Amino acid sequence: MKVFSKFKKIKNSIFNGKKVRHIGIDLGTANTIIYIKEEGIKIDEPSYISRNNKTERVDKIGELAKKIAGKEPKYIDIIRPLKNGVISNYEATLNMLEGFFEEIRDDAITNDSVLVCIPSGVTQVERRSVFNVVLDAGAKEVNLVEEPIAAAIGSGIDIFEPKAHLVVNVGAGTTEISFISSGGDSNSKSIRIAGDHFDQDIVEYVKDEYGIIIGKKTAETLKIKSNLSETDDEKFEIRGIDTITYLPKSVEIKVDVVNKAIIYKINLIIDSIKQALEEIAPEISADIYETGIYLSGGGARIKLLKKRIEEAFNLNVTVVEEPRHAVIKGLSIILDDFNKYTNLIISDHTEY
Ligand SMILES: Nc1ncnc2c1ncn2[C@@H]1O[C@H](COP(=O)(O)OP(=O)(O)OP(=O)(O)O)[C@@H](O)[C@H]1O
Ligand SMILES: [Mg+2]
Repeated sequence: MKVFSKFKKIKNSIFNGKKVRHIGIDLGTANTIIYIKEEGIKIDEPSYISRNNKTERVDKIGELAKKIAGKEPKYIDIIRPLKNGVISNYEATLNMLEGFFEEIRDDAITNDSVLVCIPSGVTQVERRSVFNVVLDAGAKEVNLVEEPIAAAIGSGIDIFEPKAHLVVNVGAGTTEISFISSGGDSNSKSIRIAGDHFDQDIVEYVKDEYGIIIGKKTAETLKIKSNLSETDDEKFEIRGIDTITYLPKSVEIKVDVVNKAIIYKINLIIDSIKQALEEIAPEISADIYETGIYLSGGGARIKLLKKRIEEAFNLNVTVVEEPRHAVIKGLSIILDDFNKYTNLIISDHTEY
């Protein structure tokens, strides 16, 4: 038996006679993070690509493409290949992944087995699209796992424990609300309200209240800076276009302005958590009373979100360590002990 399992292990790590490299990818709306087993995080870049629309060639990917977004010349198109957690532009996603794969290329090891996360509420077509794009980008094998499961594992939760935990992962495109217990999720809700939608609301709020048109990147920077600020009195300068004169304009914004701009969407997330809590079984509810709510994803850093959840439910809220990396950390833990998590893996052979 022992010999057999050893053989299986060796067989698993050899693919067509070549050593397999195990890779985890958090293919997010805002960020793509790539982890290589036994090496660590190799890519952590914005999910952006720029393309020359005259030659149809890829111009830049990741950080470099995001840097020029909003300032690009006419012959360049800036594309965010994912929207609301799913692939919205297949070719651009493929080009972006090919670019990242090129950066981590290792000629000695050509067979990559990739584990990718997907939001819990995706359709079969959206799921198939993730399989195909990673295969097209050069992977030899692709497995999927739901993002909230990975987020829970990466948040340090023992998902096999018969005790329920509520994980709320706030990304850029989706917020996943999931009850995890006894080795899987018992109930998951995925809503398309997250960081990108906050940015959009900030753009609209400052336009109405301060007569300034700002870009989404400026709105995002303002949101991040104001949430990293230690005090509520700190002011942040934003620059854009005056809505009346159409000339360049600068305005100073305080933290509470950002909070006013995003409170509506924050409350929608609160409503969804409330709905989810109302739908679960009493035993799960009893556990949540003890374990509270775990916040992960980049949006977990929004202080108003934590405060409003605490106020609304009177539950303990834990913002997990390095919330933006919770999912990739979860993928790395699964890759380290793949057999333990096989029930949670959606493979190419899984029935659709
Ligand atoms: N300090 C911060 N304060 C507020 N928001 C932040 C902070 N840091 C990052 N964010 C926001 O978090 C979001 C990115 O989070 P994350 O990387 O988890 O998303 P993603 O995985 O790419 O998206 P999704 O899971 O929805 O596909 C962005 O909207 C970003 O603006
Ligand atoms: Mg995410």
